[in-house]
Amino acid sequence: MKSYIVEGGNILSGEIEVSGSKNASLPILAASILNANTTKLYNIPRIQDTKITLKILKLLGCEVKSKKGKIVIDSKNIYITEIPEELMREMRSSIILAGALIGRFKKVKFSYPGGCDIGSRPIDLHLKAFRKLGIKIEEKSGFITCTCDKIVGNEISLDFPSVGATENIMLASIFCEGVTYIKNSALEPEIVDLQKFLNKMGAKIEGAGTSIIKITGVKNLKEVSYNVMPDRIEAGTLLCAAAVTGGNLKLKNIETEHIEAIIDKLRDMGCELEVEKRQVELKSIRKIKAIDIKTMPYPGFPTDLQSIFSAVLTVAKGTSIITENIFESRYKCMSELKRMGAKVTIDNRIAVIKGVRKLTGSNVKATDLRGGAALLIAALSAKGKTKIDNIEYILRGYESLDKKLNKLGAKVYIKDNK
Ligand code: UD1
Repeated sequence: MKSYIVEGGNILSGEIEVSGSKNASLPILAASILNANTTKLYNIPRIQDTKITLKILKLLGCEVKSKKGKIVIDSKNIYITEIPEELMREMRSSIILAGALIGRFKKVKFSYPGGCDIGSRPIDLHLKAFRKLGIKIEEKSGFITCTCDKIVGNEISLDFPSVGATENIMLASIFCEGVTYIKNSALEPEIVDLQKFLNKMGAKIEGAGTSIIKITGVKNLKEVSYNVMPDRIEAGTLLCAAAVTGGNLKLKNIETEHIEAIIDKLRDMGCELEVEKRQVELKSIRKIKAIDIKTMPYPGFPTDLQSIFSAVLTVAKGTSIITENIFESRYKCMSELKRMGAKVTIDNRIAVIKGVRKLTGSNVKATDLRGGAALLIAALSAKGKTKIDNIEYILRGYESLDKKLNKLGAKVYIKDNK
Protein backbone atom coordinates (compact mmCIF):
# COMPACT_ATOMS: atom_id res chain seq x y z
CA MET A 1 0.00 0.00 0.00
CA LYS A 2 1.29 3.44 -0.92
CA SER A 3 0.53 6.83 0.62
CA TYR A 4 0.96 10.45 -0.38
CA ILE A 5 2.56 12.73 2.18
CA VAL A 6 1.56 16.29 1.41
CA GLU A 7 2.99 19.42 3.01
CA GLY A 8 0.22 21.96 2.57
CA GLY A 9 0.31 25.70 2.14
CA ASN A 10 2.41 26.09 -1.01
CA ILE A 11 1.11 28.22 -3.86
CA LEU A 12 1.02 26.31 -7.16
CA SER A 13 2.03 28.34 -10.20
CA GLY A 14 3.67 27.74 -13.56
CA GLU A 15 3.04 25.90 -16.79
CA ILE A 16 2.20 22.23 -17.37
CA GLU A 17 1.04 19.87 -20.13
CA VAL A 18 -1.96 17.64 -19.67
CA SER A 19 -1.57 13.90 -20.42
CA GLY A 20 -3.66 11.81 -22.81
CA SER A 21 -7.20 10.99 -21.75
CA LYS A 22 -7.76 7.89 -19.62
CA ASN A 23 -11.40 7.58 -20.63
CA ALA A 24 -10.59 7.91 -24.33
CA SER A 25 -7.60 5.55 -24.16
CA LEU A 26 -9.46 2.61 -22.62
CA PRO A 27 -12.10 2.11 -25.37
CA ILE A 28 -9.48 2.84 -28.06
CA LEU A 29 -7.15 0.18 -26.61
CA ALA A 30 -10.12 -2.23 -26.62
CA ALA A 31 -10.92 -1.28 -30.22
CA SER A 32 -7.43 -2.37 -31.29
CA ILE A 33 -8.85 -5.92 -31.06
CA LEU A 34 -11.10 -5.28 -34.06
CA ASN A 35 -8.70 -4.77 -36.99
CA ALA A 36 -6.70 -8.03 -36.66
CA ASN A 37 -3.79 -5.82 -37.61
CA THR A 38 -1.41 -3.23 -36.20
CA THR A 39 -2.53 -0.22 -34.14
CA LYS A 40 -0.05 2.53 -33.24
CA LEU A 41 -1.18 4.78 -30.41
CA TYR A 42 0.30 8.04 -29.12
CA ASN A 43 -0.55 10.01 -25.96
CA ILE A 44 -1.81 6.97 -24.00
CA PRO A 45 -1.27 7.91 -20.32
CA ARG A 46 1.01 5.64 -18.29
CA ILE A 47 -1.46 4.80 -15.52
CA GLN A 48 -2.62 1.63 -13.83
CA ASP A 49 -5.86 1.36 -15.87
CA THR A 50 -4.05 1.41 -19.23
CA LYS A 51 -1.47 -1.06 -17.87
CA ILE A 52 -4.25 -3.48 -16.89
CA THR A 53 -5.93 -3.12 -20.28
CA LEU A 54 -2.64 -3.85 -22.06
CA LYS A 55 -2.12 -6.85 -19.77
CA ILE A 56 -5.55 -8.21 -20.77
CA LEU A 57 -4.80 -7.62 -24.47
CA LYS A 58 -1.55 -9.60 -24.10
CA LEU A 59 -3.33 -12.44 -22.31
CA LEU A 60 -5.86 -12.61 -25.16
CA GLY A 61 -2.98 -13.05 -27.61
CA CYS A 62 -2.07 -9.53 -28.79
CA GLU A 63 1.53 -8.56 -29.30
CA VAL A 64 2.16 -5.31 -27.42
CA LYS A 65 5.25 -3.11 -27.68
CA SER A 66 5.73 0.26 -26.10
CA LYS A 67 8.53 2.74 -26.54
CA LYS A 68 8.93 6.49 -26.14
CA GLY A 69 5.31 7.49 -25.85
CA LYS A 70 4.16 5.07 -28.58
CA ILE A 71 2.26 1.83 -28.05
CA VAL A 72 2.04 -0.70 -30.86
CA ILE A 73 -0.56 -3.45 -30.62
CA ASP A 74 -0.85 -6.31 -33.11
CA SER A 75 -4.16 -8.11 -32.63
CA LYS A 76 -3.78 -10.58 -35.53
CA ASN A 77 -3.18 -13.62 -33.35
CA ILE A 78 -5.80 -13.28 -30.61
CA TYR A 79 -6.80 -16.80 -29.65
CA ILE A 80 -8.68 -16.26 -26.36
CA THR A 81 -12.09 -14.61 -26.11
CA GLU A 82 -12.56 -14.89 -22.35
CA ILE A 83 -11.62 -11.83 -20.27
CA PRO A 84 -9.71 -13.00 -17.15
CA GLU A 85 -11.92 -12.69 -14.07
CA GLU A 86 -9.32 -11.19 -11.72
CA LEU A 87 -8.49 -8.39 -14.19
CA MET A 88 -12.17 -7.81 -14.97
CA ARG A 89 -12.67 -7.19 -11.25
CA GLU A 90 -9.86 -4.64 -11.11
CA MET A 91 -11.40 -2.24 -13.57
CA ARG A 92 -14.94 -1.37 -14.59
CA SER A 93 -14.00 -0.29 -18.09
CA SER A 94 -12.86 -3.84 -18.88
CA ILE A 95 -16.53 -4.26 -19.94
CA ILE A 96 -15.55 -2.32 -23.10
CA LEU A 97 -13.43 -5.28 -24.21
CA ALA A 98 -16.65 -7.31 -24.46
CA GLY A 99 -17.98 -5.14 -27.32
CA ALA A 100 -14.72 -5.43 -29.26
CA LEU A 101 -14.41 -9.21 -28.79
CA ILE A 102 -18.02 -9.95 -29.74
CA GLY A 103 -17.64 -7.57 -32.70
CA ARG A 104 -14.67 -9.49 -34.07
CA PHE A 105 -15.16 -13.09 -32.91
CA LYS A 106 -18.96 -13.30 -32.34
CA LYS A 107 -18.28 -14.66 -28.88
CA VAL A 108 -17.01 -13.44 -25.54
CA LYS A 109 -17.10 -14.60 -21.92
CA PHE A 110 -16.60 -12.28 -18.97
CA SER A 111 -17.57 -11.77 -15.35
CA TYR A 112 -19.22 -8.75 -13.76
CA PRO A 113 -16.77 -5.82 -13.84
CA GLY A 114 -15.22 -4.17 -10.79
CA GLY A 115 -13.80 -0.67 -10.47
CA CYS A 116 -14.33 2.22 -8.06
CA ASP A 117 -17.13 1.82 -5.54
CA ILE A 118 -19.03 4.99 -6.44
CA GLY A 119 -22.48 3.50 -6.93
CA SER A 120 -24.26 0.37 -8.11
CA ARG A 121 -22.83 0.61 -11.69
CA PRO A 122 -25.01 -2.01 -13.39
CA ILE A 123 -24.39 -3.22 -16.97
CA ASP A 124 -28.03 -3.79 -17.92
CA LEU A 125 -27.93 -1.17 -20.71
CA HIS A 126 -24.92 -2.91 -22.29
CA LEU A 127 -26.59 -6.33 -22.20
CA LYS A 128 -29.97 -5.05 -23.44
CA ALA A 129 -28.20 -3.42 -26.39
CA PHE A 130 -26.24 -6.60 -27.17
CA ARG A 131 -29.53 -8.56 -27.28
CA LYS A 132 -30.93 -6.04 -29.77
CA LEU A 133 -27.94 -6.75 -32.01
CA GLY A 134 -28.92 -10.43 -32.15
CA ILE A 135 -26.45 -11.56 -29.48
CA LYS A 136 -27.49 -14.46 -27.24
CA ILE A 137 -26.57 -13.88 -23.60
CA GLU A 138 -26.29 -16.56 -20.92
CA GLU A 139 -25.59 -15.62 -17.30
CA LYS A 140 -24.35 -18.35 -14.98
CA SER A 141 -22.46 -18.23 -11.66
CA GLY A 142 -21.38 -14.61 -12.15
CA PHE A 143 -20.15 -15.22 -15.71
CA ILE A 144 -21.76 -13.83 -18.85
CA THR A 145 -21.36 -15.63 -22.16
CA CYS A 146 -22.32 -13.82 -25.36
CA THR A 147 -22.57 -15.62 -28.70
CA CYS A 148 -24.09 -15.04 -32.13
CA ASP A 149 -23.71 -16.11 -35.77
CA LYS A 150 -23.70 -12.51 -36.93
CA ILE A 151 -24.29 -9.06 -35.49
CA VAL A 152 -27.48 -7.65 -36.96
CA GLY A 153 -27.77 -3.87 -37.18
CA ASN A 154 -30.70 -2.43 -35.23
CA GLU A 155 -32.08 0.70 -33.62
CA ILE A 156 -31.10 0.95 -29.97
CA SER A 157 -32.61 3.61 -27.73
CA LEU A 158 -30.66 4.00 -24.51
CA ASP A 159 -32.73 4.72 -21.37
CA PHE A 160 -29.80 6.84 -20.16
CA PRO A 161 -26.92 8.23 -22.28
CA SER A 162 -24.40 5.79 -20.80
CA VAL A 163 -20.82 6.40 -21.94
CA GLY A 164 -19.77 2.76 -21.65
CA ALA A 165 -22.91 1.36 -23.31
CA THR A 166 -22.58 3.81 -26.25
CA GLU A 167 -18.95 2.73 -26.73
CA ASN A 168 -19.75 -0.96 -26.44
CA ILE A 169 -22.52 -0.72 -29.06
CA MET A 170 -20.17 1.14 -31.43
CA LEU A 171 -17.50 -1.57 -31.02
CA ALA A 172 -19.91 -4.49 -31.32
CA SER A 173 -21.57 -3.04 -34.45
CA ILE A 174 -18.47 -2.35 -36.57
CA PHE A 175 -18.99 -5.46 -38.78
CA CYS A 176 -22.79 -5.60 -38.39
CA GLU A 177 -25.11 -6.62 -41.16
CA GLY A 178 -26.90 -3.40 -42.17
CA VAL A 179 -26.94 -0.34 -39.94
CA THR A 180 -27.05 0.26 -36.17
CA TYR A 181 -28.50 3.47 -34.79
CA ILE A 182 -27.81 4.46 -31.18
CA LYS A 183 -30.45 6.89 -29.97
CA ASN A 184 -29.94 8.97 -26.82
CA SER A 185 -26.24 8.16 -27.15
CA ALA A 186 -23.72 9.73 -24.76
CA LEU A 187 -22.31 13.05 -26.06
CA GLU A 188 -18.95 12.91 -24.28
CA PRO A 189 -15.83 14.01 -26.23
CA GLU A 190 -14.33 10.54 -25.60
CA ILE A 191 -17.10 9.09 -27.83
CA VAL A 192 -16.09 11.50 -30.60
CA ASP A 193 -12.46 10.43 -30.16
CA LEU A 194 -13.49 6.76 -30.43
CA GLN A 195 -15.43 7.48 -33.64
CA LYS A 196 -12.41 9.30 -35.14
CA PHE A 197 -10.15 6.38 -34.25
CA LEU A 198 -12.53 3.73 -35.60
CA ASN A 199 -13.15 5.62 -38.84
CA LYS A 200 -9.40 6.00 -39.32
CA MET A 201 -9.26 2.21 -39.00
CA GLY A 202 -11.84 1.87 -41.79
CA ALA A 203 -15.16 1.84 -39.89
CA LYS A 204 -18.19 3.82 -41.07
CA ILE A 205 -19.60 5.77 -38.16
CA GLU A 206 -21.24 9.17 -38.03
CA GLY A 207 -23.01 11.29 -35.44
CA ALA A 208 -20.71 10.97 -32.40
CA GLY A 209 -21.11 14.08 -30.29
CA THR A 210 -24.84 14.19 -31.16
CA SER A 211 -27.62 12.09 -29.65
CA ILE A 212 -27.90 9.75 -32.66
CA ILE A 213 -24.95 7.68 -33.84
CA LYS A 214 -25.14 5.69 -37.06
CA ILE A 215 -22.85 2.70 -37.58
CA THR A 216 -22.87 1.14 -41.02
CA GLY A 217 -21.32 -2.31 -40.96
CA VAL A 218 -18.08 -2.76 -42.92
CA LYS A 219 -16.35 -5.96 -44.07
CA ASN A 220 -12.73 -5.17 -43.16
CA LEU A 221 -10.61 -2.81 -41.13
CA LYS A 222 -6.99 -1.80 -41.68
CA GLU A 223 -3.92 -0.82 -39.67
CA VAL A 224 -4.09 2.53 -37.97
CA SER A 225 -2.06 5.15 -36.15
CA TYR A 226 -3.78 7.58 -33.75
CA ASN A 227 -3.08 10.33 -31.23
CA VAL A 228 -5.46 10.15 -28.24
CA MET A 229 -7.21 13.33 -27.05
CA PRO A 230 -6.07 15.18 -23.89
CA ASP A 231 -7.56 14.35 -20.50
CA ARG A 232 -10.23 16.92 -19.64
CA ILE A 233 -10.61 15.55 -16.09
CA GLU A 234 -6.90 15.87 -15.40
CA ALA A 235 -7.11 19.42 -16.78
CA GLY A 236 -9.91 20.23 -14.32
CA THR A 237 -7.97 18.65 -11.45
CA LEU A 238 -4.84 20.73 -12.13
CA LEU A 239 -6.89 23.94 -12.45
CA CYS A 240 -8.46 23.17 -9.07
CA ALA A 241 -4.99 22.59 -7.57
CA ALA A 242 -3.94 26.09 -8.65
CA ALA A 243 -7.24 27.66 -7.60
CA VAL A 244 -7.27 26.14 -4.10
CA THR A 245 -3.73 27.37 -3.38
CA GLY A 246 -4.29 30.84 -4.86
CA GLY A 247 -1.84 30.25 -7.72
CA ASN A 248 -1.58 31.09 -11.42
CA LEU A 249 -1.42 28.22 -13.90
CA LYS A 250 -1.01 27.84 -17.65
CA LEU A 251 -2.30 24.49 -18.91
CA LYS A 252 -1.14 23.27 -22.29
CA ASN A 253 -2.13 20.37 -24.58
CA ILE A 254 -5.84 20.63 -23.84
CA GLU A 255 -9.00 21.09 -25.87
CA THR A 256 -10.65 24.01 -24.09
CA GLU A 257 -13.91 23.24 -25.92
CA HIS A 258 -14.12 20.07 -23.79
CA ILE A 259 -13.87 21.95 -20.49
CA GLU A 260 -16.33 24.80 -20.99
CA ALA A 261 -18.55 23.74 -18.06
CA ILE A 262 -15.44 23.57 -15.86
CA ILE A 263 -14.17 26.98 -16.97
CA ASP A 264 -17.61 28.51 -16.26
CA LYS A 265 -17.62 27.14 -12.71
CA LEU A 266 -14.07 28.34 -12.00
CA ARG A 267 -15.09 31.82 -13.20
CA ASP A 268 -18.17 31.69 -10.94
CA MET A 269 -15.77 30.86 -8.10
CA GLY A 270 -13.89 34.12 -8.74
CA CYS A 271 -10.93 32.85 -10.80
CA GLU A 272 -9.87 34.70 -13.91
CA LEU A 273 -9.36 32.52 -16.99
CA GLU A 274 -7.85 33.35 -20.35
CA VAL A 275 -8.95 30.73 -22.83
CA GLU A 276 -7.39 29.82 -26.17
CA LYS A 277 -8.16 26.74 -28.30
CA ARG A 278 -5.36 24.54 -26.93
CA GLN A 279 -4.43 26.24 -23.66
CA VAL A 280 -5.93 27.99 -20.69
CA GLU A 281 -4.42 30.30 -18.10
CA LEU A 282 -5.95 30.56 -14.62
CA LYS A 283 -5.27 33.47 -12.28
CA SER A 284 -6.44 33.40 -8.69
CA ILE A 285 -7.24 37.01 -7.95
CA ARG A 286 -9.52 36.75 -4.94
CA LYS A 287 -10.72 34.25 -2.34
CA ILE A 288 -12.73 31.36 -3.79
CA LYS A 289 -16.48 32.02 -3.71
CA ALA A 290 -19.07 29.34 -2.90
CA ILE A 291 -21.03 28.03 -5.91
CA ASP A 292 -23.66 25.37 -6.61
CA ILE A 293 -22.87 22.36 -8.79
CA LYS A 294 -25.17 19.79 -10.38
CA THR A 295 -23.47 16.91 -12.16
CA MET A 296 -24.90 16.02 -15.56
CA PRO A 297 -23.94 14.02 -18.65
CA TYR A 298 -21.77 16.04 -21.11
CA PRO A 299 -21.93 18.96 -21.88
CA GLY A 300 -23.03 19.41 -18.26
CA PHE A 301 -20.66 19.49 -15.30
CA PRO A 302 -18.81 16.12 -15.15
CA THR A 303 -19.41 13.80 -12.21
CA ASP A 304 -15.69 12.94 -12.34
CA LEU A 305 -14.85 16.46 -11.13
CA GLN A 306 -17.54 16.72 -8.48
CA SER A 307 -15.38 15.54 -5.54
CA ILE A 308 -12.43 17.62 -6.72
CA PHE A 309 -14.44 20.85 -6.95
CA SER A 310 -16.09 19.97 -3.62
CA ALA A 311 -12.63 19.82 -2.05
CA VAL A 312 -11.92 23.37 -3.26
CA LEU A 313 -15.33 24.58 -2.03
CA THR A 314 -14.60 23.37 1.52
CA VAL A 315 -12.45 26.52 1.87
CA ALA A 316 -14.67 28.88 -0.16
CA LYS A 317 -16.40 31.97 1.19
CA GLY A 318 -20.01 30.94 1.77
CA THR A 319 -22.11 27.80 1.39
CA SER A 320 -22.11 25.58 -1.72
CA ILE A 321 -24.77 23.06 -2.67
CA ILE A 322 -23.70 20.02 -4.68
CA THR A 323 -26.15 17.69 -6.42
CA GLU A 324 -24.69 14.39 -7.65
CA ASN A 325 -27.00 13.08 -10.37
CA ILE A 326 -24.88 10.32 -11.94
CA PHE A 327 -23.28 8.10 -9.26
CA GLU A 328 -25.10 7.86 -5.93
CA SER A 329 -22.07 6.94 -3.78
CA ARG A 330 -19.73 9.70 -4.87
CA TYR A 331 -19.71 11.42 -1.49
CA LYS A 332 -17.48 8.89 0.31
CA CYS A 333 -14.51 11.27 0.32
CA MET A 334 -16.59 13.84 2.22
CA SER A 335 -16.16 11.97 5.51
CA GLU A 336 -12.39 12.07 4.95
CA LEU A 337 -12.57 15.81 4.15
CA LYS A 338 -14.45 16.27 7.43
CA ARG A 339 -11.43 14.80 9.25
CA MET A 340 -9.48 17.72 7.81
CA GLY A 341 -12.01 20.18 9.19
CA ALA A 342 -14.46 20.51 6.29
CA LYS A 343 -18.06 21.30 7.19
CA VAL A 344 -20.25 19.09 5.02
CA THR A 345 -23.72 17.65 5.46
CA ILE A 346 -25.11 15.06 3.09
CA ASP A 347 -28.69 14.16 2.39
CA ASN A 348 -29.01 11.48 -0.26
CA ARG A 349 -27.73 13.06 -3.53
CA ILE A 350 -27.22 16.55 -2.07
CA ALA A 351 -24.17 17.79 -0.17
CA VAL A 352 -24.09 21.14 1.56
CA ILE A 353 -20.58 22.51 2.04
CA LYS A 354 -20.09 25.40 4.43
CA GLY A 355 -16.74 26.94 3.61
CA VAL A 356 -14.16 27.21 6.41
CA ARG A 357 -11.07 29.45 6.46
CA LYS A 358 -8.55 26.60 6.30
CA LEU A 359 -8.41 22.81 6.48
CA THR A 360 -5.92 21.08 8.75
CA GLY A 361 -3.55 18.34 7.62
CA SER A 362 -4.70 14.90 8.88
CA ASN A 363 -4.48 11.18 8.14
CA VAL A 364 -7.05 10.27 5.49
CA LYS A 365 -7.82 7.43 3.07
CA ALA A 366 -8.66 7.48 -0.63
CA THR A 367 -11.90 5.59 -1.27
CA ASP A 368 -12.04 5.93 -5.05
CA LEU A 369 -10.06 7.52 -7.89
CA ARG A 370 -11.57 11.00 -8.05
CA GLY A 371 -12.39 11.11 -4.32
CA GLY A 372 -8.71 10.33 -3.68
CA ALA A 373 -7.61 13.16 -5.97
CA ALA A 374 -10.02 15.43 -4.06
CA LEU A 375 -8.16 14.67 -0.83
CA LEU A 376 -4.89 15.58 -2.52
CA ILE A 377 -6.36 18.91 -3.69
CA ALA A 378 -7.62 19.61 -0.16
CA ALA A 379 -4.23 18.70 1.33
CA LEU A 380 -2.41 21.17 -0.94
CA SER A 381 -4.01 24.15 0.80
CA ALA A 382 -4.37 22.62 4.30
CA LYS A 383 -2.31 23.78 7.25
CA GLY A 384 0.41 21.22 8.02
CA LYS A 385 1.01 17.69 6.80
CA THR A 386 -1.59 15.27 5.35
CA LYS A 387 -1.08 11.55 4.85
CA ILE A 388 -3.36 10.03 2.21
CA ASP A 389 -3.49 6.22 2.30
CA ASN A 390 -4.70 3.85 -0.45
CA ILE A 391 -3.38 6.08 -3.24
CA GLU A 392 -3.48 3.06 -5.57
CA TYR A 393 -6.94 4.39 -6.47
CA ILE A 394 -5.42 7.70 -7.59
CA LEU A 395 -2.59 6.01 -9.51
CA ARG A 396 -5.23 4.17 -11.57
CA GLY A 397 -6.20 7.36 -13.34
CA TYR A 398 -3.55 10.09 -13.09
CA GLU A 399 -0.14 10.02 -14.75
CA SER A 400 2.63 11.29 -12.43
CA LEU A 401 0.25 13.62 -10.58
CA ASP A 402 2.72 14.09 -7.71
CA LYS A 403 5.53 15.06 -10.12
CA LYS A 404 3.29 17.47 -12.02
CA LEU A 405 2.12 19.16 -8.80
CA ASN A 406 5.67 19.36 -7.46
CA LYS A 407 6.81 21.00 -10.70
CA LEU A 408 4.27 23.73 -9.90
CA GLY A 409 5.56 24.19 -6.36
CA ALA A 410 3.71 21.58 -4.30
CA LYS A 411 5.39 19.26 -1.80
CA VAL A 412 3.95 15.78 -2.39
CA TYR A 413 5.92 12.56 -1.72
CA ILE A 414 4.98 8.93 -2.27
CA LYS A 415 5.63 6.64 0.70
CA ASP A 416 5.67 2.91 0.03
CA ASN A 417 4.33 1.14 3.13
CA LYS A 418 5.60 -2.33 2.15
C1 UD1 B 1 -17.75 6.58 -17.76
C2 UD1 B 1 -16.41 7.06 -17.29
C3 UD1 B 1 -16.48 7.58 -15.87
C4 UD1 B 1 -17.56 8.65 -15.76
C5 UD1 B 1 -18.88 8.15 -16.33
C6 UD1 B 1 -19.95 9.22 -16.40
C7 UD1 B 1 -14.86 5.65 -18.51
C8 UD1 B 1 -13.85 4.58 -18.46
N1 UD1 B 1 -15.48 5.94 -17.36
O1 UD1 B 1 -18.14 5.50 -16.90
O2 UD1 B 1 -15.21 8.13 -15.53
O3 UD1 B 1 -17.75 8.99 -14.40
O4 UD1 B 1 -18.69 7.65 -17.67
O5 UD1 B 1 -19.51 10.30 -17.12
O6 UD1 B 1 -15.09 6.26 -19.55
N2 UD1 B 1 -25.85 2.81 -15.93
C9 UD1 B 1 -26.85 1.90 -15.80
N3 UD1 B 1 -26.78 0.74 -16.54
C10 UD1 B 1 -25.75 0.50 -17.40
C11 UD1 B 1 -24.73 1.45 -17.54
C12 UD1 B 1 -24.79 2.61 -16.78
O7 UD1 B 1 -27.78 2.09 -15.03
O8 UD1 B 1 -25.75 -0.55 -18.05
C13 UD1 B 1 -25.89 4.05 -15.11
C14 UD1 B 1 -24.74 4.12 -14.10
O9 UD1 B 1 -25.02 3.41 -12.93
C15 UD1 B 1 -24.62 5.61 -13.87
C16 UD1 B 1 -24.96 6.19 -15.24
O10 UD1 B 1 -25.68 5.18 -15.94
O11 UD1 B 1 -25.57 6.03 -12.94
C17 UD1 B 1 -23.76 6.64 -16.04
O12 UD1 B 1 -22.91 5.55 -16.28
P1 UD1 B 1 -22.01 5.45 -17.59
O13 UD1 B 1 -22.19 6.67 -18.42
O14 UD1 B 1 -22.26 4.12 -18.21
O15 UD1 B 1 -20.57 5.47 -16.96
P2 UD1 B 1 -19.33 4.55 -17.31
O16 UD1 B 1 -19.29 4.29 -18.76
O17 UD1 B 1 -19.30 3.42 -16.36
